[in-house]
Amino acid sequence: MINRRQFIRGGVLTAGATALAPNWVYAQKDGPEYFTLAVLPDTQNYSYRHPDIYTGQTRWLKENAEKYRIPFVCHEGDIVQNNDLFEWERAVVSHKELDGNLPYGLNVGNHDFSWTWFNGKRGEMIRDVCRIDQFFPPSKFEKESWWGGCFENRNHNSYQYFDAPGGLKFLVLNIEFAPRDVALDWGTAIIKKHPDHRVIVVTHAYMDNDDTRLGDGDRGVKLYFPDDNDGDSMWEKFVRKHKNIFLVLSGHICKDSRNNFKFDTSYTETGLLTSKGDHGNDVHQILADYQKRPNGGDGFLRLMRFTPEKNEIDVRTYSPFKDEWLTASHNQFTLSYSMT
Ligand SMILES: [Fe+2]
Repeated sequence: MINRRQFIRGGVLTAGATALAPNWVYAQKDGPEYFTLAVLPDTQNYSYRHPDIYTGQTRWLKENAEKYRIPFVCHEGDIVQNNDLFEWERAVVSHKELDGNLPYGLNVGNHDFSWTWFNGKRGEMIRDVCRIDQFFPPSKFEKESWWGGCFENRNHNSYQYFDAPGGLKFLVLNIEFAPRDVALDWGTAIIKKHPDHRVIVVTHAYMDNDDTRLGDGDRGVKLYFPDDNDGDSMWEKFVRKHKNIFLVLSGHICKDSRNNFKFDTSYTETGLLTSKGDHGNDVHQILADYQKRPNGGDGFLRLMRFTPEKNEIDVRTYSPFKDEWLTASHNQFTLSYSMT
């Protein structure tokens, strides 16, 4: 397994590419073909307190879809903070910018669920109490050509399609927070039905911010659902087994648990690990979650430019709210991925 720092030391990965302008000029009319996968990290604070920033993100993606050649927008989960009605209503407003303009997938995180309460004390998290199916039901998407389907007729586990230059076919598989074994089994069945698709897995809690997967001793998943799967067990039971999975995207982790939960933006909001799957395929596993920045995250999102001719994925981090790019090596780096 190779992590981000090993990549940088070994020179395998072009991290923090200094030669590029901060605003990353995309308009290469005579250059190689490319497309840009957009990724929205946790939006929970925007739904709760800063809805204009969320809508600013989706509006910017809509308005720049042609320029950046964006075929699809992923969401890493924790759409809302407290599963309250007003938050979901705001999320619907934000996503109206994408509706009919840009295909997107949604992902449920721990904050999208509710807890039981007894005598004023919080009890257990309940998967079934989640308003996503009230505001973003599968029926909202079923007419779309890019909608694949979902598990249990709910939008907790779903898949979508997009195509890319050169005839490349992609499948985005959204897997629930702390997935149950039955959800992973469903994901396996979907992947087996699509042997000619390149698979991107999106799940809310998978990578930690120390460039390892969430596993034993990490509080990120087991705190909520101790009997279900974290990053390590997802890898063992599911991700490593499928030769067409090349990318796993996650959010959720934004604090440094090794530093008394003090926040330090240099390493607490990102993670990167590349591991070999059972079939010899490289799987890039990436964490991004900016929610502890001012204004609930300052509107930062990820733009992943795929250039098939170069077999590269260029990852950048941009905020439409601040019109600012994050250029440190953990927010701006290049991955190898064979597309030719
Ligand atoms: Fe979360």
